[in-house]
Amino acid sequence: MAGPARPSLADATRGRILFGGDYNPEQWPEEVWHEDVRLMKEAGVNTVTLGVFSWAKLEPRPGAREFGWLDRLMDLMHEHGIGVVLATPTSSPPPWMGRLHPETLPRDENGQIEWWGSRQHFSHSSETYRRYAAAITEDLAARYGDHPALTMWHINNEYCTYDWGDEAARTFRAWLQRKYGTLDTLNEAWGTAFWSQGYDGWHEILPPRRAHYLKNPSHVLDFKRFTSDMLLECYVMERDIVRRHTPHVPVTTNFMPMWVGQDAWRWAEQEDVVSVDLYPDPRDPLGAQHGALVQDMTRSQAGGGPWMLMEQAAGPVNWRGVNHPKPRGLNRLWSFQAVARGADAVCYFQWRQSRQGAEKFHSGMVGHAGEHGRTYQEVRRLGRELAALGHELAGRHIEADIAVLFDWNSWWASAQDGRLSSEVDLPEVVRSWHRALWEANLTTAFAHPEHDLSPHRLVVVPQLYLLTDAAIDNLLACVRGGGTLVSGFMTGVADEDDRIRPGGMDARLRDLFGIRTLHEWWPLDAGEEVECDGPRGVFRGTLWSEEIETADADEVVPYKGGELDGLPAVLRKGRAWYVSTLPEPAELRALLSRVAADAGVRPVLDGLPGGVEAVRRGDVLFVLNHGREEVTVDVPDTHRDLLTGATVTGSLSLGRYGVAVLKPSP
Ligand code: GAL
Repeated sequence: MAGPARPSLADATRGRILFGGDYNPEQWPEEVWHEDVRLMKEAGVNTVTLGVFSWAKLEPRPGAREFGWLDRLMDLMHEHGIGVVLATPTSSPPPWMGRLHPETLPRDENGQIEWWGSRQHFSHSSETYRRYAAAITEDLAARYGDHPALTMWHINNEYCTYDWGDEAARTFRAWLQRKYGTLDTLNEAWGTAFWSQGYDGWHEILPPRRAHYLKNPSHVLDFKRFTSDMLLECYVMERDIVRRHTPHVPVTTNFMPMWVGQDAWRWAEQEDVVSVDLYPDPRDPLGAQHGALVQDMTRSQAGGGPWMLMEQAAGPVNWRGVNHPKPRGLNRLWSFQAVARGADAVCYFQWRQSRQGAEKFHSGMVGHAGEHGRTYQEVRRLGRELAALGHELAGRHIEADIAVLFDWNSWWASAQDGRLSSEVDLPEVVRSWHRALWEANLTTAFAHPEHDLSPHRLVVVPQLYLLTDAAIDNLLACVRGGGTLVSGFMTGVADEDDRIRPGGMDARLRDLFGIRTLHEWWPLDAGEEVECDGPRGVFRGTLWSEEIETADADEVVPYKGGELDGLPAVLRKGRAWYVSTLPEPAELRALLSRVAADAGVRPVLDGLPGGVEAVRRGDVLFVLNHGREEVTVDVPDTHRDLLTGATVTGSLSLGRYGVAVLKPSP
């Protein structure tokens, strides 16, 4: 029986787009707070996140509570109609905790302690840490649960700590006991017969600490699963506390995009609102595509519905080697891109740029230049535009005929030492495939390999090295049910325990793709290329190639020259495609465009100039110019541009970083 309906982002947006950011006013004298509120209102800020790193301020000594400053802020926000996403401060324990309870500090692989003095120095497995985290969460929820400014709970911040210490060793063993039941099962699953690793007692098992040579990959894989699970336990513990006090208030925790430590599919199921922090590099020529990928993934984790951009930067970050500001207009463009791809909240780290501390060179919505600075001026324009448009957009879903499959387990298993090529990085491979779809203006969702794939006509697997039996059944069912499947290299190689499947690839998948024998994998060096004799001419493949023999493929693109001359590089059997190298970008785009067309999937708009992105959110069409030159875009039918009020018939001009938000005219 389904439980009571959970609150959602809609409970916080109430038909608007949320606009605002992390607000850390404890850094400033109180007179600045009043100045902040004035500027927030001018900029259309309707939400702030308070308290993310406030633990030492709230609990300066064990068990003490200092809520007065937060009371005043909550009241101030409410007085000015600004909603508060209230954070639990548990990502950064106060110095006293590490001093009094050293077991709360995590240890790295080499046994070194991660000391206080930065942030996120907690062991997910420490009972003491969890007890203190629960207590402060309980008191915050009791105190502010009824506060009229409260709109959402933000648990912790970017859960990302690993721990190889003794606390983690204890919970790791318990986790393994739950998973395997007996040591025999564990020994079998980990293949400990190799290299004399057989365990004779649970107490012998450690987190995979620094070792002489390559570690057992199944051990490492389970440790990654365990770490994600332990962090999730910490989140769920706090979530359940705030839920008990405020069942009507939605709960989130902010993801880092495609972060390796968190199986975000599983985490998203435990959230009312899926939120992400997104910081593309303004100098990256593919920054917009990186944004689109993260946005597509976050929306998919939110079940295709609205999601929250919890953090972005109004200008430079401070954690790259060189940190570039955003050129004029780019912050607006990338913010609209997020809304186009389903965000109902556009927020920043942070409201006012710090003058001290580790992030004083990281931009804020109000920069060091203050209210007359370009950054704030652009923020203000954007906030006003979003305020005017919000009711037309909030809550709308996005339909995607294409799903790209991604799975953390497969990533963890494929990213280990002892593999054939350290050049192959799964996120980069996924980026290449998503880029091809993005450049072809084919709207894309992401899915887990065991999700229901029937809503998608085309399923794209950039690479899934590890596939469970259930996932393989799912892929087969997808093709049997009329779907089209395209897979990149090194898919279906290992089972759930990271055991190589006989034949180097699951037999049913080999049969599906028309592969009789996979003789050898032929990884390529950095910069090495193979040539393939494609229907549109010769193209280059990079990263990888395979020595495959086919029996019954319907279509083959062979390798040309070299050791693999004449053997299939790309093959198709029915509606299943296998691509054994990474084709150069234009070729991958052409291939996926053809496969999509064959599957009856159309781009959002035809004939778009390069660098122009089009996305349909509900019946609203977004057209975004990622270039600096003016472009003309053909748009069928008649629309009204919600930003300018202009009627658009037939075609549209967009200047540098231009945005159009088009609604069909009746
Ligand atoms: C995020 C974090 C913020 C801030 C920001 C800087 O990872 O949640 O607190 O550090 O990065 O880009």
